[in-house]
Amino acid sequence: MAKSKTVYVCTDCGSEHAKWQGQCSDCGEWNTLSRLSVDSTTAAVRKRGFAGEIQSAQRLSDVSMEDTPRLSTGMKEFDRVLGGGLVPGSAVLISGNPGAGKSTLLIQMMCRLAESNPALYVTGEESLAQIAMRARRLQLPIEQLNVMSQTNVDNIIATWDDMKPRLMVIDSIQVMYLDSVESAPGGVAQVRECAAALIQQAKKTNTVLLLVGHVTKEGNLAGPRVLEHMIDCFIMLEGDNDSRYRTLRGSKNRFGAVNELGIFAMTDKGLLEVSNPSAIFLSRSEEPSPGSVVMVVWEGTRPLLVEAQALVDSSALGNPRRVAVGFEQNRLAMLLAVLHRHGGLQVGDQDVFVNAVGGIRVAETSSDLALLLAVISSFRNKPLPQDLVCFGEVGLSGEIRPVPNGQERLREAAKHGFTQAIVPKANAPKGPIEGMRITGIQKLSEALDLLSGFD
Ligand code: TYD
Ligand code: MG
Repeated sequence: MAKSKTVYVCTDCGSEHAKWQGQCSDCGEWNTLSRLSVDSTTAAVRKRGFAGEIQSAQRLSDVSMEDTPRLSTGMKEFDRVLGGGLVPGSAVLISGNPGAGKSTLLIQMMCRLAESNPALYVTGEESLAQIAMRARRLQLPIEQLNVMSQTNVDNIIATWDDMKPRLMVIDSIQVMYLDSVESAPGGVAQVRECAAALIQQAKKTNTVLLLVGHVTKEGNLAGPRVLEHMIDCFIMLEGDNDSRYRTLRGSKNRFGAVNELGIFAMTDKGLLEVSNPSAIFLSRSEEPSPGSVVMVVWEGTRPLLVEAQALVDSSALGNPRRVAVGFEQNRLAMLLAVLHRHGGLQVGDQDVFVNAVGGIRVAETSSDLALLLAVISSFRNKPLPQDLVCFGEVGLSGEIRPVPNGQERLREAAKHGFTQAIVPKANAPKGPIEGMRITGIQKLSEALDLLSGFD
């Protein structure tokens, strides 16, 4: 065995230090350094790179590109997030809360792909009987898929060399171990070394490698943030376990865009694709209620209609709460400050709760205007018209800024029967949109005037 060297790795940012210290001097987190003895795998990767060969420099134009077509997953929503399908020789990390449906998604995909490609599903978490039972219950074609219950990476690689699969699933990387690494499975050292060994093997054999990784409560990858540097694609399966919908979102992709969102529904038949998701997050009550408004957000290449809700209530505590579910907390705080300064609405002594209905996470700034309208509506206890949609970014000086794809958003809303819209002035279309009364605004004060007009 090659001689091993000890380094200390930050589990948060992945930086390496020669000595242990209480605080990571790179990212400033406390208590995140963990001992790692660098053994032969990492050493080999360091010397040769993941491709496993020492290479000299060459012109970019001389680099030979074997024409390897992407492998479709058989699910359009999954392909969309991957940027068109799986790339041979790439490593994809799929992450999500326990119970999000990672194993279900992968077993569905693997059973179908195994019909035309040699495929191996390695599980370290469930027994083979459990997997078989689930696949049978979901009525998947189970004849061709190879499965193995194994957590020792050396054994997995030996089987890999024997079977030569084109597709490999490791469920999950946190339970894998290498004998040559001292620490317990799930620790940063094991995860990093195991992933390095598996990714190197995938590159060498031009296999698609799908790694499953768990996340902590805060939404970070459990322990090994270090992994994110090694893999080619990082995909999160998100959604409340109690809600029906799951969203698949890429946060790193070396072969495509990362802003695409795939949407699935968890049913008793497993995960089903939702191919026309624009209105699935709309479940409005019959009665108009204060604090609720529909916004049109843009996810990847499609519009989504989502109901935003706010509850503003006088606080019994000295320090009122601001809680954002599905939105960014800091954004909410900023919008409330804008509302005070430029709208004259003081909510400093109020608890403010906002929620994106249906368990979706909205990261787009076009939700600003909707959030503010919902907050105002709840604060005044005046419902907004039910056929109203809105979108727009709100700036710090109270200006309403345009967002991309205004026309398409409005058209999608019109298709679902909405007849009024409040949008940034620059997003108001030149020609009319049938059945839709559109008001373009430039300032928050104009929005407030409009709302008073609804009373
Ligand atoms: P699973 O794929 O085991 O989650 P993960 O691997 O991400 O931890 O999914 C488990 C959840 O999915 C479980 O809470 C029940 C639900 N589920 C269904 O609702 N229908 C189904 O057909 C299956 C297989 C699972
Ligand atoms: Mg699982």
